Amino acid sequence: MELFQYKNNELYCEDVKVADLAKEFGTPLWVYSANKILHEYRAIQDAFEEVDPVVCYSVKSNSNLSILRLLNGAGCSFDVVSGGELYRVQHAGADTTRVVFAGVGKTDAEIRQALGQNILMFNVESEAELDAISRIAASMNRVAPVALRLNPDIDAKTHAKTTTGKKGNKFGMDIERHNALADKVLADPNLELRGIHMHLGSPINTTDPYEAAAKKALEVVTELRAKGHQTNWVNLGGGFGLNYRGTEAPPATEYAKVILPYIKEAECRLALEPGRSVCGNAGALISEVIFTKREGGKLFVIQDAAMNDLVRPAMYDSFHRIWPVNPKLAPPTDYEAEIEGCEATDVVGPICESGDYLAKGRHLPPLQRGDLLCTFSAGAYGTVMSSNYNSRPRGAEVLVKGSDVQLIRKRESYADLIEHELFALK
Ligand code: LLP
Repeated sequence: MELFQYKNNELYCEDVKVADLAKEFGTPLWVYSANKILHEYRAIQDAFEEVDPVVCYSVKSNSNLSILRLLNGAGCSFDVVSGGELYRVQHAGADTTRVVFAGVGKTDAEIRQALGQNILMFNVESEAELDAISRIAASMNRVAPVALRLNPDIDAKTHAKTTTGKKGNKFGMDIERHNALADKVLADPNLELRGIHMHLGSPINTTDPYEAAAKKALEVVTELRAKGHQTNWVNLGGGFGLNYRGTEAPPATEYAKVILPYIKEAECRLALEPGRSVCGNAGALISEVIFTKREGGKLFVIQDAAMNDLVRPAMYDSFHRIWPVNPKLAPPTDYEAEIEGCEATDVVGPICESGDYLAKGRHLPPLQRGDLLCTFSAGAYGTVMSSNYNSRPRGAEVLVKGSDVQLIRKRESYADLIEHELFALK
């Protein structure tokens, strides 16, 4: 279900003209479709329905309070990786007893905060962390629920910077340590082993790594139970693919097909931590062309969104579809192909780095100052990774549902940029 669509050479988000939003709220502007977010969340929930999964939306992918509240209202739970994310989830009114907490560097304060919120479980990444959780739980007279994060040494065949389940990554622990720590939990009155956690990487456009992980989970749970553990949760993390280019990502039902048999055999509750696949294609970044220039045999379109807004192309060489908001040509089916009437264009921002681009050599129709551009699939890992680099205020965010438009984050001002700074005394 696509909710960013062109009708008569005009881009719409749901029932609203994107150009009208840019006029009202300015650019750069983040536009989200509420119905797309809900649709993608429900697609995952439905695909795994047989085992009544707990879908913990990964807050790191887009942590805007209104998006959290929208998902919370639909029955979604949350995966957090910091005290700040837990604070956001609390603020959005979520039931924190369904929250899972991952991350390799949880501080004492964060552990205390999470225990105070009665979270569902900590995804524990090391022995030192397990010891810290036990110590803090004891001091609070509590039993901390934990899942141990296994590094299953599975190649998710994704970008080197976002692969997490391979030996040598900083995440989780190998099977020997996992089993030794499970025994340690059994002997500790302040810890309760709820289950096993894995997260393989992101985005993963094939289902085989999930099948291997689910199979591994079944083996581990069977072994743990034989040793007397009550463990009954399997958390397979997030990482489901996203259609950045076309139809490269399998639908949730395909992932479910390979995962479900193992979960049913294990007779476990299933937790999932999808982020990108829920909100990625529900968001777009709208920008305005400032100048065009030809130099060194290339055509550059300089527009007002930059690497401080969307860092993914600079950081991972990621591909995002880009097309004008009011195009004279219908959008292509293949954005990587040469298109008649188009010219290879570098879409760049105003930041003083050659790495500041949203696309390189992209075939685009002729553009001029004032034209609006849409960078698609920007709902996940867009705003959350944005910065004020070059003292650029962050853009506004709007949430569209049908014909209803809500401003969900104000555009930052110059005053916001200096708000937390103090002049030294001398
Ligand atoms: N669970 C854990 C433990 C994770 O580390 C992640 C993502 C997720 C769940 C959610 O994965 P998702 O369903 O969103 O793929 N900044 C990168 C992505 C980093 C992902 C980090 N971990 C990007 O822009 O591609």
